Amino acid sequence: MNHQFVMFLLGILFSTHIMAITDLPPGFPRCKRTDPKMEECLIAATNQVRPYIIGGIPDFLPPLENFTVPKITLEDGKGALNFKAELINVTLMGLEKYKFTRYNFDVANKSFLIKVEFSHLYLKGKYVMTGQLLLAPIKGDGDFHGNISKCSCSIYHTVDIVNKHGIDYLKPQLTTPKIDIGKITDYGLVGLFKENKDLERATQNIIKNNLNVIVEEMLPAIEKVLGAIFDKVIFKSVTKIPYNKLYPE
Ligand SMILES: *[C@@H]1O[C@H](CO)[C@@H](O)[C@H](O)[C@H]1NC(C)=O
Ligand SMILES: *[C@@H]1O[C@H](CO)[C@@H](O)[C@H](O)[C@H]1NC(C)=O
Ligand SMILES: *[C@@H]1O[C@H](CO)[C@@H](O)[C@H](O)[C@H]1NC(C)=O
Ligand SMILES: *[C@@H]1O[C@H](CO)[C@@H](O)[C@H](O)[C@H]1NC(C)=O
Repeated sequence: MNHQFVMFLLGILFSTHIMAITDLPPGFPRCKRTDPKMEECLIAATNQVRPYIIGGIPDFLPPLENFTVPKITLEDGKGALNFKAELINVTLMGLEKYKFTRYNFDVANKSFLIKVEFSHLYLKGKYVMTGQLLLAPIKGDGDFHGNISKCSCSIYHTVDIVNKHGIDYLKPQLTTPKIDIGKITDYGLVGLFKENKDLERATQNIIKNNLNVIVEEMLPAIEKVLGAIFDKVIFKSVTKIPYNKLYPE
């Protein structure tokens, strides 16, 4: 890949999330790591916990419904897209309709292969952007939204098992998300070149005619954001829960 975004997650990202819990919340199923049908059990578990996690669980998980990231900074594009953008209060709707199709824990290898699908995701927020798009200057700030159908995400995740005071815990090592953006069914970017309607129209046309390229270019950055979210929200939230309670023998 010849393009590289530097991405920061800033602000008070998940700062209300204290990670104090030392066991799974009541109502959470457990899957035995010696069960030959462990993957089926884990996939079933993702459905069983849905009602609990939609609204979030204090000290454990933020709400999935209208999941909001306060600030995402994207910069240093090289290639067709070259810009610096700040995305503010990015709300993702539809995450709660997740459907896990893989949740494989390779116990011996200490690796997870997870695949999750979303029938559609709706994204909205505010943006501030300057840069270049296919050599044309681009500048603006305002509201954006997008509607994506058939989005899926695979995550390869490895852990280490660390022993603290005689108890084993999982310690996240590597998280590699890969996303597949199905189809953008609708999008909008309001506020480009507020002072120049012609430039705005021209830029909107460039975006419209190059939507696939733009999304393609942005994927590595989106994957990084997603990886950070998985690390900070999901994988880190269980690091204080003993291995034997998470995945009993
Ligand atoms: C999520 O946002 C929608 C639309 O803005 C709203 O109708 C709904 O009540 C919100 N849900 C929660 C849990 O805040
Ligand atoms: C982002 O959301 C926070 C909390 O809801 C709000 O205080 C802030 O004004 C929002 N920022 C923008 C730029 O809309
Ligand atoms: C086992 O782990 C190694 C390194 O983490 C990885 O490259 C390999 O693909 C894994 N094997 C399986 C079967 O997942
Ligand atoms: C997004 O698109 C889907 C169909 O592709 C539609 O059902 C849904 O209502 C749309 N969401 C919004 C917020 O426009």
